[in-house]
Amino acid sequence: MTVIAVCRDDFLISTDRTLLDVDAIASFLAGAYWAQGRTRDTIERSLENSIVFGLYHAGRQIGLARVITDKATFAYLADVYIDEAYRGRGLGKWLIGSLLGHPDLQGRVRWLLATRDAHAFYRPFGWQPVAAERWMERPAPAPGTTQ
Ligand SMILES: CC(C)(COP(=O)(O)OP(=O)(O)OC[C@H]1O[C@@H](n2cnc3c(N)ncnc32)[C@H](O)[C@@H]1OP(=O)(O)O)[C@@H](O)C(=O)NCCC(=O)NCCS
Repeated sequence: MTVIAVCRDDFLISTDRTLLDVDAIASFLAGAYWAQGRTRDTIERSLENSIVFGLYHAGRQIGLARVITDKATFAYLADVYIDEAYRGRGLGKWLIGSLLGHPDLQGRVRWLLATRDAHAFYRPFGWQPVAAERWMERPAPAPGTTQ
């Protein structure tokens, strides 16, 4: 995997896994509507098997975006967040722009994501509503059950 690192003032976006603060990530995801019931083990495995873009301020993890991909035709964007204290100053936009520019994610890649309320945040980057009749979902089993 190509490791990227881009800086802006005291902020850093990096795909270097050794920088990830899993405690900070797990703490944010514990309160995120889309990650309810996700265990620490699941979070760690999801990070290990994705391209993970960490956002850091003065070395502290303050944001994340995770890309699940075959690096050729398809990429799924997940777990995008900026810590509340840092929102509204362009960091989210910088994070998405950086991951879309990653050298392993170029070419005819279809990008998918799911969001409850941040459609307007993603739209300027080219995301649009899916044609619902063409897509199907096999939801994850509820926590504590198998399927
Ligand atoms: C969504 C999120 C990542 C945006 O990060 P941010 O750093 O605050 O965003 P930016 O400051 O770069 O904003 C970029 C643009 O998106 C808009 N925007 C930001 N958050 C938005 C949201 N939740 N919904 C719609 N538009 C949003 C901003 O108004 C701004 O518009 P402008 O360029 O016209 O001024 C951040 O608000 C967040 O972490 N939210 C909680 C977690 C979440 O909902 N993640 C997305 C799950 S799919």
